[in-house]
Amino acid sequence: MTDFTPTRADRFSFGLWTVGWQGVDVFGGVVRPPLDPAEAVHRLADLGAYGITFHDNDVFPFDADAAEKERHLGPLRRALADTGLVVPMVTTNLFSHPVFRDGGFTNNDRDVRRFALRKTLDNLDLAAELGATTFVAWGGREGAESGGSKDVRAALDRYKEAFDLLGQYVLDQGYDIRFAIEPKPNEPRGDILLPTIGHALAFINDLEHPELVGVNPEVGHEEMAGLNYASGLAQALWHGKLFHIDLNGQHGPRFDQDLRFGAGNARGAFWTVDIVESGGYDGPRHFDFKPPRTEDLDGVWASAAGCMRNYLILRDKTRAFRADPEVQAALHDARVDELATSTLAAGESLADLRAESFDPEAAAARGMGFEHLDQLALEHLYGVR
Ligand code: GCO
Ligand code: MN
Ligand code: MN
Repeated sequence: MTDFTPTRADRFSFGLWTVGWQGVDVFGGVVRPPLDPAEAVHRLADLGAYGITFHDNDVFPFDADAAEKERHLGPLRRALADTGLVVPMVTTNLFSHPVFRDGGFTNNDRDVRRFALRKTLDNLDLAAELGATTFVAWGGREGAESGGSKDVRAALDRYKEAFDLLGQYVLDQGYDIRFAIEPKPNEPRGDILLPTIGHALAFINDLEHPELVGVNPEVGHEEMAGLNYASGLAQALWHGKLFHIDLNGQHGPRFDQDLRFGAGNARGAFWTVDIVESGGYDGPRHFDFKPPRTEDLDGVWASAAGCMRNYLILRDKTRAFRADPEVQAALHDARVDELATSTLAAGESLADLRAESFDPEAAAARGMGFEHLDQLALEHLYGVR
């Protein structure tokens, strides 16, 4: 039995804003001291992570000039060099400063949209310099509280314009960077544009460079919309669009809880790890959680360690589930493998199909055996198999 200790080979990464969250919410102020990014890098390296990610303003202030940016980036670069941690993903803060009250790329104010593009271009240069290959775009403030205030079709035109310009910039610069849109249904806006994986996938089809843009689905965001995260990941993989993932925990449709991975919907987490491990995703296992504001700094590190440990526990359990001969028999009895066979055979015509005789009553009498199969899954999850 493994001791569930993470190693670099597991490719766990954390946003600096996760462990660095000071606990500010709509009802209360800071509960924890600021966390120096370099210190976070060292602590996460000690815990077994392989990478960190950040927003521009997790590292330097919104109004920093070039010299001040460098004063903040220097210690971060040194911490990365000392620990060997990498930066697989970078993202832009287009939501905290009041100038983004109505969003960045889809703000009604054109001058704010132009500023948002400039801020993002600067951050793309930084991402490329640090070797990041994924650039996440979470449009938390792109949306509205009321129907009349936002022309959604014009907003989507401007959203597309932004991704088209940014995509062309990446190509012109020769950067090895792809974009990953992070859907979320609401919070902080009443309704956010591109609210689910499905909306984002449809939007990507209409871009000038769809090959450069995929999705970064977050557990909690899909579950806030009442959707099945693992199933959404499977569809994103089917489209070749799962560029990045945000793992965390959520208890169904309510505010964005950002619990540590494995807390919240444990059954959903089991199927999430199953599809991440077996569905062809080869990116980082990235955690985007918020250590609850009940915690001091020791609690923050316990929460971060818990994300990785829970992932490894579930990885073990899903592997055991797949390797269990009784499960394999149950999968076969449930005809799960039969779904991989094309409905029309090679060389067969629709006329052949129509000529075939079929007894619907006999077929209707067959049970599917899914309950037995699911009970085996639950018993692996509950730890009794
Ligand atoms: C949320 C989001 C954010 C984004 C992050 C990247 O909890 O609403 O997950 O945390 O992922 O800001 O821009
Ligand atoms: Mn979230
Ligand atoms: Mn996220």
